[in-house]
Amino acid sequence: MIEVQDLSIVYGSGREAVPALEDLSFNVEEGEMVAVVGPSGCGKTSLLLVIDGLIRPTSGRVLVAGEEVRGVRRDVALILQDAGLLPWKTVRQNAELALRIQKRKENVDGILAALGLNGFERRFPAELSEGMRRRVGIARALALRPRVLLMDEPMANLDSLTRERIQNLILDLWWEMRFTGILVTHDIEEAVFLGQRILVLSPRPARTREILENPGMGSHDYRGSPEFLERARTLRRILEEQG
Ligand SMILES: Nc1ncnc2c1ncn2[C@@H]1O[C@H](COP(=O)(O)OP(=O)(O)O)[C@@H](O)[C@H]1O
Ligand SMILES: [Mg+2]
Repeated sequence: MIEVQDLSIVYGSGREAVPALEDLSFNVEEGEMVAVVGPSGCGKTSLLLVIDGLIRPTSGRVLVAGEEVRGVRRDVALILQDAGLLPWKTVRQNAELALRIQKRKENVDGILAALGLNGFERRFPAELSEGMRRRVGIARALALRPRVLLMDEPMANLDSLTRERIQNLILDLWWEMRFTGILVTHDIEEAVFLGQRILVLSPRPARTREILENPGMGSHDYRGSPEFLERARTLRRILEEQG
C-alpha cells in the first residue's frame, strides 16, 4: 500500500545542507500498522510529510496504492504532533475541517462519538483537556475515512493513563476501519502495542536500522503479556545500542 523507495531528504544546500533521510526504503502492506521509532531529529516527521505529499523528497519516491505521491491525496490523512486545532473553531468545526477542505459534506457525529467527544461538539479547544484535544485531532483525520493514516507522535506528552486510553482507541478504530497506518512514536511500549512491525531508524540521516516483527500485536491485553515485555526489551536494547 505504501512503498518508500530510496528516499533522501536534504534541507538547505551547500555548507548548510542538513541530510534528514538517506536512501530509506520500506513497504507497508494494505491494512498493516507499522510503528516507526528513532532518535529525535532523525527525520521521522520529514518522512511522514513526504508520504503525505506535503514536501518533495530530494531523491527517491513514495508510492501510495501504486501511484507516485505528487501532492496531498484525498485518501491519506495525517495527525500532527500537537493535534493542530484552530482555537477559534469548535470541536465540531475542527473535526470537520479536513472534510471541508476536500469539499466533502459527510457527518462527523459518528466519529466524534467513537472518540468519546459527543456532548462536546460546541466547545472550543481551550475548554478541553489535552487528551480531548488530541482526540479531536484524531477525529479530524479519521472523518476522512482514509485508506492511509499517518500519525506523528499523537500521544506525546500525555499522562500515561490518557495515553493508554488513546492507544486502545486507535487500536479499536484500526480494527474497525482497517486503514493502513504508520505511527511515529518515541515510546517503546507504544510502538510494541500498536506496531505489527516496528521500523527502527538510525540517527540522522535516518536509514533503516532494523525491522522488528511483532505478530502478537492486536489486542488490549497484549500489554503486559510476556511476549509484549520481551519485544519491549528487544526494542529497548536496539535503541540503547545505537546510543
Ligand atoms: N524545514 C526545515 N529546514 C531545515 N532543517 C529542517 C527542516 N525541517 C526539519 N529539519 C531538520 O531535519 C532533521 C529531521 O527533522 P524531523 O524530520 O523533524 O525529525 P524527527 O521528527 O525525527 O525529530 C532535524 O535535524 C531538523 O532540524
Ligand atoms: Mg518529529
